[in-house]
Order: sequence, then C-alpha cells, then structure tokens
Amino acid sequence: MEKQPALYLYREHMCYYIVKGSTMKDKLVRFGVSLEGELLRKFDAFIGAEGYSNRSKAIADLIRKEFVTDVFARGGAVAGAVTIVYDHHRREVVNKLLDIQHDHGSTIISAQHVHLDHDNCLEIIAVKGPGAKVKALADSLKSIKGVKHATLSVTTAGK
Ligand code: NI
Repeated sequence: MEKQPALYLYREHMCYYIVKGSTMKDKLVRFGVSLEGELLRKFDAFIGAEGYSNRSKAIADLIRKEFVTDVFARGGAVAGAVTIVYDHHRREVVNKLLDIQHDHGSTIISAQHVHLDHDNCLEIIAVKGPGAKVKALADSLKSIKGVKHATLSVTTAGK
C-alpha cells in the first residue's frame, strides 16, 4: 500500500496504523487510559446495559461513532437509511415522495415499501453518498406536508 500522511490514515482508515514507517493492516494496539473512578464505573454500567462483554469493543464502537458523525458533518461519504411513515390516501404526499426520490437517484441505493395498515405506509430508503446530499434528501422528504414521521440514520460507508 502506498504510504500516506499519518493523519489521513488515522481519520479515514481506522484499521491501518503506522508502525516504524510501515503500514500494517488490522494490527491491534494496546494502550492505557486513565479515567476518574466514577466515570469508569458509569461507563462499565453503560456498556454492560448495552450488551458489551469488554471495554475494548465498546471504546472502538464509540470512536467509530464519533468518526461517522465527523465525516457526515464535513460532508464526507456516508451510508444510511431514511425511514418515513405517511398516509397513502393523501395522493399529493405520494406524488411528492416519488418526485423527490427520482430527483435523488444518485444518492438512493434502494427503497422498500411496507403497507403498515389500511392507512399507513412505511418506506425505508437506503442511501449512500456525500453527507450534504444525504442530508438534503432526508430534509426534503421529512418536510413534505403529510409525512407523519421521518428519521435519518447515518452510518459508515465502510471506507
Ligand atoms: Ni403502502
């Protein structure tokens, strides 16, 4: 692999570490962390309730979560899902949803439509692309009059 600045590797490729001038994939590195006792007790209680069996996995997940938030805020590449619930009897809502999704074809990977009950539809729209485009799509969908609830869940694009 081509050598790149350490900062770039640190931010974009969590599994690469520079060790003595060479890059090593997936090498685990042990390091010590000093915390106030009360903070550590709360952390242990929190990760126990979340189902973690050890601190390492919990800390790694928290770090990755912050990286995803940062990448999204800076407009970097993310993946995710927009979830919306609406009443399909309101035809203007259905038409608007379709228009917006057609206008964002490059951001939308797939969409699943579920008929929740007689009135309500659930759509789960998988998205991938620059954070700004993903946010623009989610904002457009949730602002449609007649959409009862919309959420955007952002995750890593895997890079
Ligand atoms: Ni439906």
